[in-house]
Amino acid sequence: MAWPPARIVRLLAVLAIMPTAVWAGFALTHAKIKPSIAHGPLIAAHADVACAACHLKTPGTVRQQVQAQVRYVLGLRQTPVDFGYAEVGSEQCLACHARPNERHPIYRFREPRFAKAIVQVDARSCLGCHSEHVPQIVTVAPTLCQACHEDLNVKNDPVDTSHERLVSLEKWGSCLGCHDFHGNHHLKPPTRMVEVLPAAEIWGYFQGGDDPFGGTKLYEGKAP
Ligand code: HEC
Ligand code: HEC
Ligand code: HEC
Ligand code: HEC
Ligand code: HEC
Repeated sequence: MAWPPARIVRLLAVLAIMPTAVWAGFALTHAKIKPSIAHGPLIAAHADVACAACHLKTPGTVRQQVQAQVRYVLGLRQTPVDFGYAEVGSEQCLACHARPNERHPIYRFREPRFAKAIVQVDARSCLGCHSEHVPQIVTVAPTLCQACHEDLNVKNDPVDTSHERLVSLEKWGSCLGCHDFHGNHHLKPPTRMVEVLPAAEIWGYFQGGDDPFGGTKLYEGKAP
Protein backbone atom coordinates (compact mmCIF):
# COMPACT_ATOMS: atom_id res chain seq x y z
CA MET A 1 0.00 0.00 0.00
CA ALA A 2 1.33 3.46 -0.93
CA TRP A 3 1.61 6.11 1.82
CA PRO A 4 -0.67 9.13 1.35
CA PRO A 5 1.16 12.32 0.37
CA ALA A 6 2.87 14.24 3.18
CA ARG A 7 0.35 17.08 2.92
CA ILE A 8 -2.55 14.72 3.73
CA VAL A 9 -0.63 13.19 6.62
CA ARG A 10 -0.09 16.68 8.04
CA LEU A 11 -3.77 17.53 7.60
CA LEU A 12 -4.81 14.35 9.43
CA ALA A 13 -2.36 15.17 12.22
CA VAL A 14 -3.86 18.64 12.62
CA LEU A 15 -7.41 17.28 12.61
CA ALA A 16 -6.39 14.82 15.30
CA ILE A 17 -5.10 17.58 17.63
CA MET A 18 -7.98 19.99 16.92
CA PRO A 19 -10.34 18.70 19.65
CA THR A 20 -7.54 19.03 22.24
CA ALA A 21 -6.68 22.52 21.04
CA VAL A 22 -10.31 23.65 21.14
CA TRP A 23 -10.79 22.06 24.56
CA ALA A 24 -7.66 23.80 25.91
CA GLY A 25 -8.87 27.14 24.55
CA PHE A 26 -12.29 26.60 26.11
CA ALA A 27 -10.91 25.43 29.44
CA LEU A 28 -8.57 28.42 29.74
CA THR A 29 -11.57 30.74 29.55
CA HIS A 30 -13.90 28.83 31.88
CA ALA A 31 -12.87 29.09 35.51
CA LYS A 32 -14.72 26.03 36.85
CA ILE A 33 -12.94 23.50 34.67
CA LYS A 34 -9.54 25.18 34.86
CA PRO A 35 -7.89 22.55 37.08
CA SER A 36 -8.82 19.82 34.57
CA ILE A 37 -6.63 21.30 31.86
CA ALA A 38 -3.61 22.80 33.62
CA HIS A 39 -0.74 20.30 33.65
CA GLY A 40 -0.34 20.76 37.35
CA PRO A 41 -1.13 23.22 40.12
CA LEU A 42 0.34 26.70 40.28
CA ILE A 43 3.13 27.42 42.81
CA ALA A 44 1.61 28.47 46.16
CA ALA A 45 2.70 32.11 45.76
CA HIS A 46 0.69 32.26 42.49
CA ALA A 47 -2.50 30.72 43.88
CA ASP A 48 -4.44 33.93 43.19
CA VAL A 49 -2.76 34.79 39.88
CA ALA A 50 -5.23 34.49 36.99
CA CYS A 51 -4.45 32.13 34.12
CA ALA A 52 -4.77 35.12 31.80
CA ALA A 53 -1.92 36.99 33.55
CA CYS A 54 0.48 34.50 31.94
CA HIS A 55 -1.55 33.07 29.05
CA LEU A 56 -2.30 35.95 26.69
CA LYS A 57 -4.71 35.51 23.83
CA THR A 58 -3.12 35.58 20.39
CA PRO A 59 -4.64 38.16 18.06
CA GLY A 60 -7.36 37.05 15.64
CA THR A 61 -10.65 35.21 15.98
CA VAL A 62 -10.81 31.43 16.19
CA ARG A 63 -12.04 31.36 12.58
CA GLN A 64 -9.01 33.38 11.40
CA GLN A 65 -6.70 31.07 13.33
CA VAL A 66 -8.25 27.95 11.82
CA GLN A 67 -7.92 29.50 8.34
CA ALA A 68 -4.28 30.32 9.02
CA GLN A 69 -3.65 26.78 10.26
CA VAL A 70 -5.26 25.31 7.13
CA ARG A 71 -3.06 27.54 4.97
CA TYR A 72 -0.04 26.26 6.89
CA VAL A 73 -1.06 22.64 6.33
CA LEU A 74 -1.51 23.31 2.62
CA GLY A 75 1.97 24.82 2.48
CA LEU A 76 0.65 28.36 1.80
CA ARG A 77 1.92 29.74 5.13
CA GLN A 78 5.40 29.43 6.67
CA THR A 79 4.57 29.06 10.38
CA PRO A 80 1.83 27.29 12.30
CA VAL A 81 -0.42 29.33 14.61
CA ASP A 82 -0.98 28.98 18.35
CA PHE A 83 -4.56 28.01 19.00
CA GLY A 84 -5.82 31.02 20.89
CA TYR A 85 -2.96 31.44 23.35
CA ALA A 86 0.57 32.66 22.90
CA GLU A 87 3.56 30.98 24.49
CA VAL A 88 4.28 32.30 28.00
CA GLY A 89 7.34 34.58 28.04
CA SER A 90 9.42 36.72 30.40
CA GLU A 91 7.31 39.82 29.62
CA GLN A 92 4.41 38.29 31.54
CA CYS A 93 6.64 37.61 34.58
CA LEU A 94 8.18 41.07 34.43
CA ALA A 95 4.75 42.70 34.44
CA CYS A 96 4.64 41.69 38.13
CA HIS A 97 8.31 41.11 38.98
CA ALA A 98 10.31 43.94 37.33
CA ARG A 99 12.76 45.17 39.99
CA PRO A 100 15.19 48.06 39.84
CA ASN A 101 17.77 46.25 42.01
CA GLU A 102 18.02 43.13 39.81
CA ARG A 103 21.53 41.67 40.14
CA HIS A 104 21.23 39.40 37.09
CA PRO A 105 18.87 41.13 34.64
CA ILE A 106 17.89 38.78 31.79
CA TYR A 107 18.62 41.32 29.02
CA ARG A 108 22.30 41.40 29.97
CA PHE A 109 22.76 37.77 28.90
CA ARG A 110 21.86 38.43 25.27
CA GLU A 111 25.42 39.74 24.83
CA PRO A 112 27.63 37.44 22.70
CA ARG A 113 30.12 36.91 25.55
CA PHE A 114 27.48 34.79 27.32
CA ALA A 115 26.91 32.49 24.34
CA LYS A 116 28.65 29.56 26.05
CA ALA A 117 27.02 30.16 29.43
CA ILE A 118 23.48 30.21 28.10
CA VAL A 119 23.96 26.77 26.58
CA GLN A 120 24.24 25.57 30.19
CA VAL A 121 21.53 27.78 31.63
CA ASP A 122 19.35 30.05 29.51
CA ALA A 123 19.59 33.18 31.63
CA ARG A 124 17.99 35.29 28.85
CA SER A 125 14.54 34.16 29.93
CA CYS A 126 12.80 33.74 33.28
CA LEU A 127 11.68 30.37 31.94
CA GLY A 128 15.31 29.25 31.62
CA CYS A 129 15.24 28.76 35.41
CA HIS A 130 11.56 28.88 36.39
CA SER A 131 8.44 27.23 35.09
CA GLU A 132 4.85 26.79 36.22
CA HIS A 133 2.56 23.80 36.78
CA VAL A 134 5.49 21.95 38.35
CA PRO A 135 6.10 21.64 42.11
CA GLN A 136 9.43 23.53 42.00
CA ILE A 137 9.76 27.33 42.23
CA VAL A 138 13.21 27.03 40.60
CA THR A 139 13.85 24.41 37.91
CA VAL A 140 17.66 24.55 37.59
CA ALA A 141 20.29 22.92 39.80
CA PRO A 142 21.65 24.99 42.75
CA THR A 143 25.11 24.76 41.13
CA LEU A 144 24.05 27.03 38.21
CA CYS A 145 26.53 29.78 39.23
CA GLN A 146 29.31 27.73 37.62
CA ALA A 147 28.04 28.64 34.13
CA CYS A 148 29.33 32.23 34.54
CA HIS A 149 31.57 32.63 37.58
CA GLU A 150 34.50 30.32 36.79
CA ASP A 151 37.04 33.16 36.79
CA LEU A 152 35.75 34.68 40.01
CA ASN A 153 38.26 36.71 41.97
CA VAL A 154 36.96 38.97 44.73
CA LYS A 155 39.26 41.84 45.73
CA ASN A 156 40.20 41.89 49.44
CA ASP A 157 38.21 38.71 49.77
CA PRO A 158 36.63 38.67 53.24
CA VAL A 159 35.63 34.99 53.17
CA ASP A 160 37.71 32.53 55.24
CA THR A 161 37.98 30.26 52.19
CA SER A 162 38.60 32.65 49.31
CA HIS A 163 36.29 32.68 46.28
CA GLU A 164 39.23 31.71 44.10
CA ARG A 165 39.77 28.64 46.26
CA LEU A 166 36.03 27.79 46.30
CA VAL A 167 36.08 27.84 42.50
CA SER A 168 39.21 25.69 42.25
CA LEU A 169 37.61 23.19 44.65
CA GLU A 170 34.42 23.37 42.51
CA LYS A 171 32.28 24.24 45.54
CA TRP A 172 29.44 25.45 43.32
CA GLY A 173 26.90 24.17 45.80
CA SER A 174 28.15 26.71 48.39
CA CYS A 175 27.34 29.95 46.50
CA LEU A 176 23.63 30.01 47.27
CA GLY A 177 24.55 29.27 50.85
CA CYS A 178 25.73 32.89 51.16
CA HIS A 179 24.13 34.78 48.24
CA ASP A 180 20.67 34.76 46.76
CA PHE A 181 20.53 34.92 42.95
CA HIS A 182 18.46 38.04 42.31
CA GLY A 183 19.81 40.09 45.21
CA ASN A 184 16.21 40.71 46.29
CA HIS A 185 16.50 39.62 49.92
CA HIS A 186 17.70 41.68 52.88
CA LEU A 187 20.86 39.66 53.14
CA LYS A 188 24.42 40.43 54.13
CA PRO A 189 26.53 37.50 52.94
CA PRO A 190 28.42 35.88 55.83
CA THR A 191 32.22 35.60 55.75
CA ARG A 192 32.75 32.22 57.39
CA MET A 193 32.20 28.83 55.78
CA VAL A 194 30.55 27.51 58.97
CA GLU A 195 27.70 29.96 58.31
CA VAL A 196 26.88 28.64 54.82
CA LEU A 197 23.22 27.59 54.58
CA PRO A 198 22.84 23.80 54.35
CA ALA A 199 22.28 22.49 50.80
CA ALA A 200 19.09 20.73 51.97
CA GLU A 201 17.51 24.08 52.90
CA ILE A 202 18.26 25.55 49.50
CA TRP A 203 16.96 22.46 47.77
CA GLY A 204 13.84 22.57 49.97
CA TYR A 205 13.28 26.20 48.94
CA PHE A 206 13.53 25.25 45.26
CA GLN A 207 10.88 22.60 45.93
CA GLY A 208 8.48 25.18 47.36
CA GLY A 209 9.57 25.05 51.02
CA ASP A 210 10.55 27.87 53.39
CA ASP A 211 12.68 30.73 52.13
CA PRO A 212 16.09 30.23 53.82
CA PHE A 213 17.15 33.81 53.04
CA GLY A 214 14.89 35.13 55.78
CA GLY A 215 11.87 35.81 53.60
CA THR A 216 12.07 39.61 53.78
CA LYS A 217 12.30 40.86 50.23
CA LEU A 218 13.19 44.26 48.88
CA TYR A 219 10.46 43.95 46.24
CA GLU A 220 7.46 41.62 46.30
CA GLY A 221 5.63 40.48 43.17
CA LYS A 222 2.68 42.70 42.28
CA ALA A 223 -0.47 41.46 44.00
CA PRO A 224 -2.86 39.94 41.44
C1 HEC B 1 2.70 32.41 36.45
C2 HEC B 1 2.39 32.11 35.07
C3 HEC B 1 1.30 31.08 34.76
C4 HEC B 1 0.03 31.03 35.26
C5 HEC B 1 -0.62 31.94 36.30
C6 HEC B 1 -0.63 29.93 34.58
N1 HEC B 1 0.24 29.34 33.71
FE1 HEC B 1 -0.19 27.79 32.44
N2 HEC B 1 1.73 27.77 31.79
C7 HEC B 1 2.72 28.63 32.20
C8 HEC B 1 3.96 28.25 31.58
C9 HEC B 1 5.30 28.94 31.79
C10 HEC B 1 3.67 27.15 30.76
C11 HEC B 1 4.64 26.39 29.85
C12 HEC B 1 5.43 25.40 30.67
C13 HEC B 1 4.79 24.06 30.65
O1 HEC B 1 4.69 23.46 29.57
O2 HEC B 1 4.40 23.57 31.73
C14 HEC B 1 2.26 26.86 30.90
C15 HEC B 1 1.59 25.86 30.24
C16 HEC B 1 0.22 25.65 30.30
C17 HEC B 1 -0.54 24.73 29.47
C18 HEC B 1 0.05 23.81 28.41
C19 HEC B 1 -0.10 24.43 27.06
C20 HEC B 1 1.09 25.18 26.68
O3 HEC B 1 0.92 26.31 26.17
O4 HEC B 1 2.21 24.66 26.85
C21 HEC B 1 -1.84 24.82 29.81
C22 HEC B 1 -3.01 24.07 29.20
C23 HEC B 1 -1.92 25.80 30.88
N3 HEC B 1 -0.65 26.30 31.15
C24 HEC B 1 -3.08 26.17 31.52
C25 HEC B 1 -3.17 27.08 32.57
C26 HEC B 1 -4.38 27.35 33.34
C27 HEC B 1 -5.74 26.70 33.08
C28 HEC B 1 -4.05 28.30 34.27
C29 HEC B 1 -4.91 28.89 35.38
C30 HEC B 1 -5.34 27.91 36.39
C31 HEC B 1 -2.64 28.61 34.09
N4 HEC B 1 -2.13 27.85 33.06
C32 HEC B 1 -1.94 29.56 34.82
C33 HEC B 1 2.57 29.71 33.06
C34 HEC B 1 1.42 30.01 33.78
C1 HEC C 1 -0.07 38.87 38.39
C2 HEC C 1 1.26 39.01 38.96
C3 HEC C 1 2.28 37.89 38.78
C4 HEC C 1 2.72 37.31 37.60
C5 HEC C 1 2.20 37.54 36.19
C6 HEC C 1 3.81 36.44 37.97
N1 HEC C 1 4.01 36.46 39.33
FE1 HEC C 1 5.42 35.46 40.37
N2 HEC C 1 4.64 36.14 42.14
C7 HEC C 1 3.62 37.06 42.26
C8 HEC C 1 3.36 37.33 43.67
C9 HEC C 1 2.31 38.29 44.24
C10 HEC C 1 4.26 36.51 44.42
C11 HEC C 1 4.38 36.41 45.96
C12 HEC C 1 5.21 37.56 46.51
C13 HEC C 1 6.68 37.39 46.26
O1 HEC C 1 7.24 36.33 46.62
O2 HEC C 1 7.29 38.30 45.64
C14 HEC C 1 5.06 35.79 43.42
C15 HEC C 1 6.09 34.92 43.73
C16 HEC C 1 6.93 34.31 42.80
C17 HEC C 1 8.05 33.45 43.13
C18 HEC C 1 8.52 33.08 44.54
C19 HEC C 1 7.84 31.85 45.02
C20 HEC C 1 8.20 31.48 46.43
O3 HEC C 1 7.61 30.48 46.92
O4 HEC C 1 9.03 32.16 47.07
C21 HEC C 1 8.63 33.07 41.95
C22 HEC C 1 9.83 32.16 41.76
C23 HEC C 1 7.87 33.70 40.88
N3 HEC C 1 6.85 34.43 41.43
C24 HEC C 1 8.19 33.58 39.54
C25 HEC C 1 7.37 34.04 38.49
C26 HEC C 1 7.60 33.75 37.10
C27 HEC C 1 8.77 32.96 36.56
C28 HEC C 1 6.57 34.33 36.39
C29 HEC C 1 6.32 34.27 34.89
C30 HEC C 1 6.15 32.92 34.33
C31 HEC C 1 5.70 35.00 37.36
N4 HEC C 1 6.23 34.80 38.61
C32 HEC C 1 4.55 35.70 37.05
C33 HEC C 1 2.94 37.66 41.21
C34 HEC C 1 3.08 37.34 39.86
C1 HEC D 1 19.76 31.85 35.64
C2 HEC D 1 18.63 31.41 36.43
C3 HEC D 1 17.49 32.35 36.73
C4 HEC D 1 16.83 33.20 35.86
C5 HEC D 1 17.09 33.43 34.37
C6 HEC D 1 15.77 33.80 36.62
N1 HEC D 1 15.79 33.34 37.91
FE1 HEC D 1 14.48 33.82 39.38
N2 HEC D 1 15.52 32.66 40.72
C7 HEC D 1 16.64 31.90 40.41
C8 HEC D 1 17.16 31.27 41.61
C9 HEC D 1 18.39 30.36 41.68
C10 HEC D 1 16.31 31.66 42.67
C11 HEC D 1 16.43 31.27 44.15
C12 HEC D 1 17.42 32.20 44.85
C13 HEC D 1 16.83 33.56 45.12
O1 HEC D 1 15.83 33.64 45.83
O2 HEC D 1 17.37 34.57 44.61
C14 HEC D 1 15.28 32.54 42.07
C15 HEC D 1 14.26 33.15 42.76
C16 HEC D 1 13.26 33.93 42.20
C17 HEC D 1 12.18 34.56 42.92
C18 HEC D 1 11.91 34.44 44.43
C19 HEC D 1 12.87 35.31 45.22
C20 HEC D 1 12.70 36.78 44.91
O3 HEC D 1 13.70 37.37 44.41
O4 HEC D 1 11.65 37.35 45.11
C21 HEC D 1 11.42 35.27 42.02
C22 HEC D 1 10.19 36.11 42.30
C23 HEC D 1 12.05 35.09 40.72
N3 HEC D 1 13.16 34.28 40.88
C24 HEC D 1 11.58 35.65 39.55
C25 HEC D 1 12.26 35.64 38.34
C26 HEC D 1 11.85 36.38 37.16
C27 HEC D 1 10.59 37.22 37.06
C28 HEC D 1 12.78 36.13 36.19
C29 HEC D 1 12.86 36.73 34.79
C30 HEC D 1 12.86 38.20 34.74
C31 HEC D 1 13.77 35.23 36.76
N4 HEC D 1 13.43 34.97 38.07
C32 HEC D 1 14.89 34.73 36.10
C33 HEC D 1 17.19 31.75 39.16
C34 HEC D 1 16.82 32.45 38.02
C1 HEC E 1 24.36 33.56 33.11
C2 HEC E 1 25.50 34.06 33.86
C3 HEC E 1 25.46 34.11 35.37
C4 HEC E 1 25.01 33.14 36.23
C5 HEC E 1 24.42 31.78 35.91
C6 HEC E 1 25.26 33.65 37.56
N1 HEC E 1 25.83 34.90 37.49
FE1 HEC E 1 26.31 36.11 39.05
N2 HEC E 1 26.83 37.58 37.80
C7 HEC E 1 26.91 37.47 36.42
C8 HEC E 1 27.39 38.73 35.88
C9 HEC E 1 27.64 39.02 34.42
C10 HEC E 1 27.58 39.60 36.98
C11 HEC E 1 28.08 41.03 36.96
C12 HEC E 1 29.55 40.96 37.21
C13 HEC E 1 30.23 42.18 36.72
O1 HEC E 1 29.57 43.16 36.43
O2 HEC E 1 31.45 42.09 36.66
C14 HEC E 1 27.22 38.85 38.17
C15 HEC E 1 27.31 39.37 39.45
C16 HEC E 1 27.11 38.63 40.62
C17 HEC E 1 27.27 39.13 41.98
C18 HEC E 1 27.69 40.53 42.36
C19 HEC E 1 26.52 41.45 42.28
C20 HEC E 1 26.87 42.85 42.68
O3 HEC E 1 26.48 43.24 43.77
O4 HEC E 1 27.52 43.53 41.90
C21 HEC E 1 27.03 38.10 42.82
C22 HEC E 1 27.09 38.13 44.34
C23 HEC E 1 26.70 36.95 42.00
N3 HEC E 1 26.75 37.30 40.67
C24 HEC E 1 26.40 35.71 42.48
C25 HEC E 1 25.92 34.66 41.72
C26 HEC E 1 25.45 33.41 42.27
C27 HEC E 1 25.43 33.07 43.75
C28 HEC E 1 25.04 32.64 41.22
C29 HEC E 1 24.43 31.26 41.25
C30 HEC E 1 23.24 31.12 42.12
C31 HEC E 1 25.26 33.41 40.00
N4 HEC E 1 25.79 34.62 40.34
C32 HEC E 1 24.98 32.96 38.72
C33 HEC E 1 26.56 36.37 35.68
C34 HEC E 1 25.98 35.21 36.17
C1 HEC F 1 30.79 32.02 53.22
C2 HEC F 1 29.95 32.82 52.40
C3 HEC F 1 30.23 32.92 50.91
C4 HEC F 1 30.34 31.90 49.98
C5 HEC F 1 30.30 30.39 50.24
C6 HEC F 1 30.44 32.54 48.70
N1 HEC F 1 30.45 33.89 48.84
FE1 HEC F 1 30.55 35.24 47.37
N2 HEC F 1 30.84 36.74 48.72
C7 HEC F 1 30.72 36.60 50.08
C8 HEC F 1 31.07 37.85 50.72
C9 HEC F 1 31.07 38.13 52.21
C10 HEC F 1 31.42 38.74 49.67
C11 HEC F 1 31.95 40.20 49.83
C12 HEC F 1 31.11 41.20 49.17
C13 HEC F 1 29.83 41.43 49.86
O1 HEC F 1 29.80 41.69 51.06
O2 HEC F 1 28.79 41.41 49.13
C14 HEC F 1 31.25 38.01 48.42
C15 HEC F 1 31.43 38.53 47.15
C16 HEC F 1 31.06 37.89 45.97
C17 HEC F 1 31.04 38.49 44.65
C18 HEC F 1 31.45 39.91 44.31
C19 HEC F 1 30.45 40.87 44.77
C20 HEC F 1 30.98 42.28 44.61
O3 HEC F 1 30.31 43.15 45.16
O4 HEC F 1 32.00 42.45 43.96
C21 HEC F 1 30.60 37.55 43.76
C22 HEC F 1 30.39 37.71 42.27
C23 HEC F 1 30.38 36.34 44.54
N3 HEC F 1 30.66 36.58 45.86
C24 HEC F 1 29.97 35.14 43.99
C25 HEC F 1 30.06 33.93 44.67
C26 HEC F 1 29.99 32.63 44.02
C27 HEC F 1 29.76 32.39 42.55
C28 HEC F 1 30.16 31.70 45.01
C29 HEC F 1 30.26 30.21 44.87
C30 HEC F 1 31.51 29.72 44.29
C31 HEC F 1 30.31 32.43 46.26
N4 HEC F 1 30.26 33.76 46.00
C32 HEC F 1 30.49 31.83 47.51
C33 HEC F 1 30.36 35.43 50.74
C34 HEC F 1 30.36 34.17 50.18
